[in-house]
Amino acid sequence: MKFFIDTANLDQIREAQDLGVLDGVTTNPSLMAKEGITGRNNILKHYVDICEIVDGDVSAEVIATDFDGIVKEGEQLADLHEQIVVKVPMIKEGVKAIKYFTDKGIRTNCTLVFSAGQALLAAKAGATYVSPFIGRLDDISTDGLNLIAEIRLIYDNYGFETEILAASVRHTMHVLECAKIGADVMTGPLSSIEGLLKHPLTDIGLEKFLADYKKGN
Ligand code: E4P
Repeated sequence: MKFFIDTANLDQIREAQDLGVLDGVTTNPSLMAKEGITGRNNILKHYVDICEIVDGDVSAEVIATDFDGIVKEGEQLADLHEQIVVKVPMIKEGVKAIKYFTDKGIRTNCTLVFSAGQALLAAKAGATYVSPFIGRLDDISTDGLNLIAEIRLIYDNYGFETEILAASVRHTMHVLECAKIGADVMTGPLSSIEGLLKHPLTDIGLEKFLADYKKGN
């Protein structure tokens, strides 16, 4: 299972990278705005800065919603760095653009996916990644993890190579459940990764080992 961090915050990206388990980064326009990154040139530079910190894939989202605009923007993003994956929304023009990018060898992440039907379309268009937003489904009393299971079943039935990128992950249980279902990737905040570390018995056990060592030395 790949671990991506879902942020545009360079310090958090560095921290996750330093842990040694980071496989990539996802961003979106809201996460960029949260870090105060505005204006086309600053945003493009920020993507390059992120690519220089991590070794893996970095999703960069298009703003255009028409086919020509998505293609123009996506090609510009893909040219920025070899690690860039063009993030395209699950809309009709987006599906067409994903097919176009697939044919040109440009990797894509189909975002804002909330149903198995949308995920099937994304795979048919050849998306590299599909991003079902599990936390946002949970927010409206719909089981986000069930969507991951449905997509896993459909993709396995037909051998689709599109990777299931569980997005809108909010906490460690989302990560664990996605791992059990077989999501290929998860993207979440640093806390959802670091939370996996925690167990009180580890802390108690270590404290005792160190105390016992001191007694004998
Ligand atoms: C994924 O690519 C999205 O950027 C993200 O996971 C959305 O998460 P949120 O629902 O917590 O905003």
